Amino acid sequence: MNLIVTTIHKPTAVAAECARELAGRLGAPLVDRGGRSLAALRAEYAADAVLVAAKDGPVVHTPGGEYFFHLSMAELRINNLKAGKPDHMIAAMGLDAGMSVLDCTLGLATDAVVASFVAGAGGRVVGLEASPVIAAVAGYGLTGFASGRADVDAALRRIAVIHADYNDYFADLPAASFDVVYFDPMFRAPVQASSSLKPLRHLADRRPVSPAAIAAARRVAKCCVVLKEASGSGEFARLGFSRLAGGKYSSVHYGIMETGC
Ligand SMILES: C[S@@+](CC[C@H](N)C(=O)[O-])C[C@H]1O[C@@H](n2cnc3c(N)ncnc32)[C@H](O)[C@@H]1O
Repeated sequence: MNLIVTTIHKPTAVAAECARELAGRLGAPLVDRGGRSLAALRAEYAADAVLVAAKDGPVVHTPGGEYFFHLSMAELRINNLKAGKPDHMIAAMGLDAGMSVLDCTLGLATDAVVASFVAGAGGRVVGLEASPVIAAVAGYGLTGFASGRADVDAALRRIAVIHADYNDYFADLPAASFDVVYFDPMFRAPVQASSSLKPLRHLADRRPVSPAAIAAARRVAKCCVVLKEASGSGEFARLGFSRLAGGKYSSVHYGIMETGC
């Protein structure tokens, strides 16, 4: 992907610094906005995507739309949990306060935020993300996004973002070093209704999970490995998940492989 980095028109010092830092980190050209439109910049630099450092953080303009950090469904799911309603992902993980989660496919970090809220200050959530751009957006959002709610912001700040391919990262981890290892790969067949994932698809690592990755995850997981996939997906059987959980009418299900606890 050919990415360039620029700023909004008349950037603040913070936005200008954000652009400089991200261009350096992503190894992408830093382009002076110079009053030009994004379409003009895209054409001049033959760019597939333009990362714009804006007032509230980076916004990546992709052919599928704008990609930026937001809470997505995390706040609603947290509200439901606080109201005593179940969350299918949390139930599949068997997650409780004080536990640790390795989220191998961080993405926008919606699932990680909910997991972090439940794991609490005594728990630990580490998010791995193979796409450098997605990892950068998550890093900015999780450290800087202000939801106006102390409990939600605290859940965001507790998540550690690591730009890494989980296939490489597992090798350095001791056995049973996380209670839960979680995968939410790009679905093999995209759920059309999920338009919020459209820009993500342009930036994401879309390789399927391999049986070797599941074997490595089993070594690292003290309690369980959980895989989120489209309901009825053949990925569950291909990767050896026979126990499935999730809503009867839900478009996604969770495969659970217990490893202990
Ligand atoms: C469907 S998204 C995850 C969404 C996330 N659960 C959320 O709540 O926002 C899948 C993400 O996994 C990332 N990914 C895919 N393969 C990966 C790998 N081998 N290592 C790390 N991240 C990977 C993709 O780049 C993408 O951002």
